Amino acid sequence: MSSDVATEVKRRRTFAIISHPDAGKSTMTEALALHARMISEAGAIHGKAGRKSTVSDWMEMEKARGISVSSTALQFNYLAEHSEPGIPSVINLVDTPGHADFSEDTYRVLTAVDAAVMLIDAAKGLEPQTLKLFQVCRHRGIPVITVINKWDRPGQTPLELIDEISERIGLTPTPLFFPVGIAGDFRGLLDRRTGEYVHFTRTAGGAKIAPEEIMSADDAAAREGDEWTAAVEESELLSEMGQDHDQEMFLAGQTSPMIFASAMLNFGVRQLLEVLVELAPPPAGRVDIEGNERPVTDPFSAVVFKVQAGMDSSHRDRLAYMRIVSGEFERGMVVTHAQTGKPFATKYAQAVFGRDRSTVDTAYPGDVVGLVNATALAPGDTLFDGPKVQFPPIPSFAPEHFSTLRATTADKYKQFRKAMDQLDSEGVVQVLRNDTRGDMSPVLAAVGPMQFEVVTARMKAEFNVDTIIEPLGYTLARRTDAESAPELDRQRGVEVFTRTDGAVLALFSDKWRLQYIEKEHPDLTLQPLVAAAD
Ligand code: G4P
Repeated sequence: MSSDVATEVKRRRTFAIISHPDAGKSTMTEALALHARMISEAGAIHGKAGRKSTVSDWMEMEKARGISVSSTALQFNYLAEHSEPGIPSVINLVDTPGHADFSEDTYRVLTAVDAAVMLIDAAKGLEPQTLKLFQVCRHRGIPVITVINKWDRPGQTPLELIDEISERIGLTPTPLFFPVGIAGDFRGLLDRRTGEYVHFTRTAGGAKIAPEEIMSADDAAAREGDEWTAAVEESELLSEMGQDHDQEMFLAGQTSPMIFASAMLNFGVRQLLEVLVELAPPPAGRVDIEGNERPVTDPFSAVVFKVQAGMDSSHRDRLAYMRIVSGEFERGMVVTHAQTGKPFATKYAQAVFGRDRSTVDTAYPGDVVGLVNATALAPGDTLFDGPKVQFPPIPSFAPEHFSTLRATTADKYKQFRKAMDQLDSEGVVQVLRNDTRGDMSPVLAAVGPMQFEVVTARMKAEFNVDTIIEPLGYTLARRTDAESAPELDRQRGVEVFTRTDGAVLALFSDKWRLQYIEKEHPDLTLQPLVAAAD
């Protein structure tokens, strides 16, 4: 069996698209699905008004805002030039939430991928959410492929965009496909490794795969004239600066292969798939809490990276998404939940994308499987078969928003507590408690304020409890301990809490308060938490 697993692992690529809202993530996802022939025409599943929705709008709140809070995975086969002859590669695209706000979900999703595609709008360049997501990739050592999207529209020059990325995030772009024609006049791509020209032809509304014509440099020069010459010269300049692809530096997170594209016209999309198959790393083993590696060919193991309830009104249940780390998964197998030591039956394993669910019978490392009604599972949990293994927990990120939550009426106390426990175990927000405040109005801590809205909306929809969120005057948290807690509690502008996982956290009104206390009481334990963007 393990040779099967090795073969399956080799042909898999698991990645996420990281981008600022509106850079074109949905359009690119659709373009990839078109190239993989999952759909025959773009526009059919694009999540826009009046069209069928690709993304799950599992709550009314999301419907109202037209955003997706959930994360799912799309799997497709693609036969690339670098696939084994006749054996298609298996691509897993893990969806990151596409809204402007951040939640811890976004970060957890990135623990489930082996590579990321950073999608940048050619006119806008690097934007705040792209930067934050990129920092997480760097933190986790995830190699990044850069796609400059919307090249069919006026934008910056290639060299400006390349400089911006080098300077602002310290990642050196190494373009593989350089645009021929300025932004707004996208004619085709110079394949910098072969020197050939890929000329694209538009299709009506960009609905179909754009026909490609591959030409020699001479033919390209004859056809495109100055535009071709400019592309060749700029490409040579990049080579002189050492900006050619280097696989080791890419995997080490120092360089980023770059492609210019138009997701809307389907230009450069095939090239992205080829680059993913050729250069992105296949799933690898993972180090457990004891520091031993679980190789991909070992018996089954997986990490839960996301838990989600109440997806939509037709499926009100609790789904846990696991990323398979090792071995073969077969639906129905009974595995062990490492955190409790209890058996876990996997009869209801599903692949989920948007509203569509299909049963998964077999899955391999790199694949994402949704487990239905998985009430015992929490993000970061391990499932395994055979030799015991437990992977390290997913770090919880430094919260920056703090609010109290309470029910509007006292008679719903029991439901309120039950709901709080449920949402806490799913990791929807971090829940902080202390004796002074009691259980009736816990403090919620979040990376992004939208996490609070999710809590109040779900309290109402699933537990029928009306709640009120009230912002607290704290802006940052530090990890402390029981010894330092009493002294900290005596300070003005500071309050100490215990988080559900047992961590003792001190909240501060502002950074000056923190600096003052650090200076006055150097003996107190005050450690930064893992920040969302360090
Ligand atoms: P997101 O998921 O990252 O938020 O972005 P999305 O794909 O929804 O794209 C945001 C807008 O950018 C959409 O326009 C989309 O059509 C457009 N877009 C995406 N890729 C390209 C591209 O390569 N070229 C051009 N010119 N536009 C692109 P919209 O007006 O908001 O929606 P729609 O009316 O086009 O559906």
